[in-house]
Amino acid sequence: MDLWFLVCSKGGVGKSTTSTNMAVCAAKDGKKVLLVDLDEKQKSAANWWQRREIEDDIKAVIVPHDIEKVKEIYEFAKKQDYDLVIFDTKGASDTLHNVIIGLATLCIIPVQPSVFDLEAIPSTVDMIKSLGKPFTILISRCPPTGNEFEKLRLGLSSHGLVCPYKTVERKAYRHAAALGLGVGEYDERDKAAEEVKNIYDWLVKTEQKQNSLKVAS
Ligand SMILES: Nc1ncnc2c1ncn2[C@@H]1O[C@H](COP(=O)(O)OP(=O)(O)O)[C@@H](O)[C@H]1O
Ligand SMILES: [Mg+2]
Repeated sequence: MDLWFLVCSKGGVGKSTTSTNMAVCAAKDGKKVLLVDLDEKQKSAANWWQRREIEDDIKAVIVPHDIEKVKEIYEFAKKQDYDLVIFDTKGASDTLHNVIIGLATLCIIPVQPSVFDLEAIPSTVDMIKSLGKPFTILISRCPPTGNEFEKLRLGLSSHGLVCPYKTVERKAYRHAAALGLGVGEYDERDKAAEEVKNIYDWLVKTEQKQNSLKVAS
């Protein structure tokens, strides 16, 4: 069972947008997906799933910010043969996050091109590195024009692996979220659909590569 953890010490970076879109891509890829929402106050991922009218292999649960409850849901997901568990949480950095990083097969750190988001990267990366877990930085909500993505990608690469695909600021992300859809379900011709598909495919490959490197070492 794979476990993807959308993690950042700051909120509003794109964790829930990425979680929900990756859940849809994984379900379309034939996987049984559990979306675990640890943000009891905001409940973005769980509310998204409540709005969702499509019957597929995605389930969402709200789990309290509690180590024992997280371990319980992890064991439950294993027993129920989930292929992928996606943990969406609030922006924080605490013991619970360390526990989830310990269980994760891939940590994904979304970041928007804003100095406030960028300032959160070193502490988040250090936490993951100290636990020796695979991670990637995902640049989200880029302006549609200009070279901000290339500049950011280069700058962030000193911290670790940066996803070569980005999301661009597009209405489709907000509209799809409002309907409980992935962007590809909302409009398969929108460029956002291609963005998330490229990100998903790259994350799957990266996770396999990183974890096989670990086994080999
Ligand atoms: N690529 C994008 N284009 C447009 N809006 C986006 C994009 N990515 C995220 N957003 C919006 O940015 C805000 C923060 O994203 P969200 O996923 O809720 O972040 P987090 O879960 O980290 O707090 C939300 O309003 C979301 O709809
Ligand atoms: Mg969120």
